[in-house]
Amino acid sequence: MVKICCIGAGYVGGPTMAVMALKCPEIEVTVVDISEPRINAWNSDRLPIYEPGLEDVVKQCRGKNLFFSTDVEKHVFESDIVFVSVNTPTKTQGLGAGKAADLTYWESAARMIADVSKSSKIVVEKSTVPVRTAEAIEKILTHNSKGIEFQILSNPEFLAEGTAIKDLYNPDRVLIGGRDTAAGQKAIKALRDVYAHWVPVEQIICTNLWSAELSKLAANAFLAQRISSVNAMSALCEATGADVTQVAHAVGTDTRIGPKFLNASVGFGGSCFQKDILNLIYICECNGLPEAANYWKQVIKVNDYQKIRFANRVVSSMFNTVSGKKIAILGFAFKKDTGDTRETPAIDVCNRLVADKAKLSIYDPQVLEEQIRRDLSMARFDWDHPVPLQQIKAEGISEQVNVVSDAYEATKDAHGLCVLTEWDEFKSLDFKKIFDNMQKPAFVFDGRNVVDAVKLREIGFIVYSIGKPLDSWLKDMPAVA
Ligand code: NAI
Repeated sequence: MVKICCIGAGYVGGPTMAVMALKCPEIEVTVVDISEPRINAWNSDRLPIYEPGLEDVVKQCRGKNLFFSTDVEKHVFESDIVFVSVNTPTKTQGLGAGKAADLTYWESAARMIADVSKSSKIVVEKSTVPVRTAEAIEKILTHNSKGIEFQILSNPEFLAEGTAIKDLYNPDRVLIGGRDTAAGQKAIKALRDVYAHWVPVEQIICTNLWSAELSKLAANAFLAQRISSVNAMSALCEATGADVTQVAHAVGTDTRIGPKFLNASVGFGGSCFQKDILNLIYICECNGLPEAANYWKQVIKVNDYQKIRFANRVVSSMFNTVSGKKIAILGFAFKKDTGDTRETPAIDVCNRLVADKAKLSIYDPQVLEEQIRRDLSMARFDWDHPVPLQQIKAEGISEQVNVVSDAYEATKDAHGLCVLTEWDEFKSLDFKKIFDNMQKPAFVFDGRNVVDAVKLREIGFIVYSIGKPLDSWLKDMPAVA
């Protein structure tokens, strides 16, 4: 029986391996992690991450051919194929701080694989890594190999949180990069055979190692660039009276462009886009390509502009002061159907409003209070590191922030409400009831364009929707970014 071990039981390792175990019943899959609470949660009824459909997959295979364990060394030792899916956050200190990927976790995983292995293995990079990481890992493994053969493959993951299971069942493509040697090609074939259990072979793309690594960074940069492009348009739409939804529809029906990733919003978030673009920028700079680096920098700058523009709009609309005013925040996760808050635009918007002395009442269907408080107290780029290593800001935010368990409580007596995540439940709220319980004038700032602005205006709200023609009230109070 082929044995697979995956190091890292996170948003990628957990769901990816669960689907692999389901689709390959004759393969034994063990997901290992140094975090005991995380492994305990994977072995419990309350999984550590929320992902539609995940629980069902885990329940079908856990204990049969899918296992979760903290005994990292034992399972690496026993396996034929080792996936490495550990976190690769942005460096916070030293050379390349704020841009380069921190490969501390990756390197320690590689050293451990070299230490414990007594048989040849295929080591698969699942984490998103800078180009040529495989080469560095290969060096660590071969210098410590004691005669054992390691083949390194790059197999970046393209799943999106919120639709991970669907994406894993039906990936647009699976990408496998490997060495152009007989042993490298044999390793590629072994991994391709695993995926071929459920992915049509023509959708399994095989490349060299560097192309696979760079393709992952490139794909995320292109996706984020579309969002920043439409968000830049949204600012122009507000200034001119055009409607960004109409513009995006007209643009997206061009088959050369396509309709996806053209929703204007308060900005992109998630653990990957910013981190991977920063990484790309750093690689461009290291290769003496400042113009290429600057091009990608703009994608992040527009995203920061969009978050600040939104927060400024809130303040300027409410007579240029939110001091002491209650503002409801509906949604904190970086997008719907996930409890993940890494790089969520809500962090920047909330911090900006807190700095202006607002009192926030936050509700998200999936994010726990502890997580929200930690996110609002944390230093930039620290959220991707293990909890004990995170730096918490000295000054407390506790008095200005309240986390509640439903949208009606959050909005009671509030002056304004901000929709920061596109959760479906926000579309069907009883906005008449909400309006009746809010201070007047009552403001809605829709950072995801999910509410029915026409209906809300009929109720009496002053509504701001990203990239839409402005209410006359808002026109008189321009937001300065
Ligand atoms: P995560 O932070 O949820 O999970 C990583 C896990 O690795 C943590 O549980 C951590 O305890 C564990 N870990 C770290 N060092 C370890 C070691 N030496 N031994 C054992 N366990 C160790 O991260 P996530 O989101 O799963 O991302 C993993 C990688 O996949 C990153 O490189 C990310 O860029 C990439 N990726 C993430 C996607 C996402 O949607 N989250 C999508 C595609 C790629």
